[in-house]
Amino acid sequence: MIIAKTIREVRENIAQWRREGFSVGLVPTMGYLHEGHASLVDRAVADCDRVVVSDFVNPTQFAPNEDLESYPRDFGHDCKLLEEHGCDMVFYPSVEEMYAPNAATYVEILDEMPKQLCGKTRPIHFRGVCTVVSKLFNIVQPDKAFFGQKDAQQLAVIRRMVRDLSYGIEIVGCPIVRENDGLAKSSRNTYLDANERKAALVLSKAVFRGEYLVKSGVTDSEKVLAEMTAIISAEPLAKIDYVSAVDGETMLPVDAITNGVLVAMAVYIGKTRLIDNFIAGGPK
Ligand code: PAF
Repeated sequence: MIIAKTIREVRENIAQWRREGFSVGLVPTMGYLHEGHASLVDRAVADCDRVVVSDFVNPTQFAPNEDLESYPRDFGHDCKLLEEHGCDMVFYPSVEEMYAPNAATYVEILDEMPKQLCGKTRPIHFRGVCTVVSKLFNIVQPDKAFFGQKDAQQLAVIRRMVRDLSYGIEIVGCPIVRENDGLAKSSRNTYLDANERKAALVLSKAVFRGEYLVKSGVTDSEKVLAEMTAIISAEPLAKIDYVSAVDGETMLPVDAITNGVLVAMAVYIGKTRLIDNFIAGGPK
């Protein structure tokens, strides 16, 4: 596996692969990789001749009060996992490599969608995500890029950016990977102590209950969200940021949960903010 720390090295390797006629897949990550990321790499390896994984904790998507400094990092572990899963090149740039000191150009969707759900408490988050993903797309110029369905709003935002800016890249959404007890895999799970880890199960319990109600034919979002909220509120360590049913593309609230509607939540367990979701009728 090639470890590339500079944009130049990435471009040189990609150019060589293109000369050899290979298709290229990109899996953007912030490192501290787990089985959720591994499933994205597996899908990319299945779909593309060559796979690039970026491993970069992107400062522009963190607000000053967020966990940029403490965000977990373990590049040695990441390389091992990536090699095991058949990644061809990991792009591991420094902040200085990605952002010039006076960088002042951002990619931002000037619409309501990035302001909904996570955007309400993280107002600059999706501008940072769009900017870095856009840079990665320009650097790697992949045929396909792979993102997890766990970050459902991020996936919708990236699809929108790709459409609006006419990137000729196919965006592939991949299913949520869960621990055996249901908790969605996340690098941030590592912040949880033993009691919080148990308490965090209220997220997946609420998701499974909501999914069950919708599958049983309940479409009234108020009713579904009320049951989900009750499950989470019964846990003293949990504090709800939001539990919402929204249109899968616009992220605006809906009254009826029909196929394609995203039912998403963000919940603080202690100081750790976790997210989870399901899509009515399953992802498209
Ligand atoms: O989902 C993530 O890990 C990040 O938001 C991403 C897409 C790699 C951009 O930094």
